Amino acid sequence: MTTNGDFRLPQTRGFGETARRDRWWVQPTVVFLALSAFIVYATFRALENGYHHYEGGGAQYLSPFYSPLLFDVPGDPSGHAWFGDKPSWWPALIPFFPAFFILWGPGGMRFTCYYYRGAYYKAFWADPPNCAVGEPRKGYRGERSFPLIMQNIHRYFFYPACAFIAVLAWDGFVATRFTGADGSTHFGVGLGTIIICMNAILLGGYTFGCHCMRHLIGGRLNALAGKPIQRACYDCVSALNKRHMLWAWSSLVWVGFTDFYIRMCASGAWTDWRIF
Ligand code: FES
Repeated sequence: MTTNGDFRLPQTRGFGETARRDRWWVQPTVVFLALSAFIVYATFRALENGYHHYEGGGAQYLSPFYSPLLFDVPGDPSGHAWFGDKPSWWPALIPFFPAFFILWGPGGMRFTCYYYRGAYYKAFWADPPNCAVGEPRKGYRGERSFPLIMQNIHRYFFYPACAFIAVLAWDGFVATRFTGADGSTHFGVGLGTIIICMNAILLGGYTFGCHCMRHLIGGRLNALAGKPIQRACYDCVSALNKRHMLWAWSSLVWVGFTDFYIRMCASGAWTDWRIF
């Protein structure tokens, strides 16, 4: 280790050299393509500024990319906005994209997630391309110096992420409330209801399996003996944490699909299938 904290690796391999015989490049390639596709799609949807809510057949569906909807998209009243229309004080020269008010929360949680860090360090800047594969650098500064030390902010993203889960669960409940011809609301289930509720469940499984949750719920203690309820909660979170990668990918794909489904219904391309 040098005096500035820079580690020198006992590395003799050149970039991409390895003794591995398996297809080690498949995993980082898939991660690169999947995350890139998601980022492009999410950015497109936030900039599209529309097709984010659906009322066909009395449904009340809201896209998770716009939830919570703090302000309505100008000229598109939805009935979901917490504070109504675009505020009058908003500078005319600055474009108004309600999705960007909230996407920093789930986006920051994912970007700093322990699992995703390991995945995109490999996939996006080959550090290393995969385990036991030569990388394009000779030094390793790790996450103990700037800028990657900023990743420690993950523990603070966890709290707003929990609030987002509560909001998405509420959206699931609202998706079971259908408006009848006489204006009254009643219980109902459409395909969109199931998709929206599933989205809250998958995102909840991802968020509550976070390492931060595991630490909070009991990992910070030396022993859980004599604390049966806490022990049970800790075991439950540990079970989620064990499959964190699976929750991470399934929730990422599903949240994108949920938005896509609502977009297709809202644009008139698809009709929501009303189950009962
Ligand atoms: S470690 Fe993945 S969400 Fe916290």
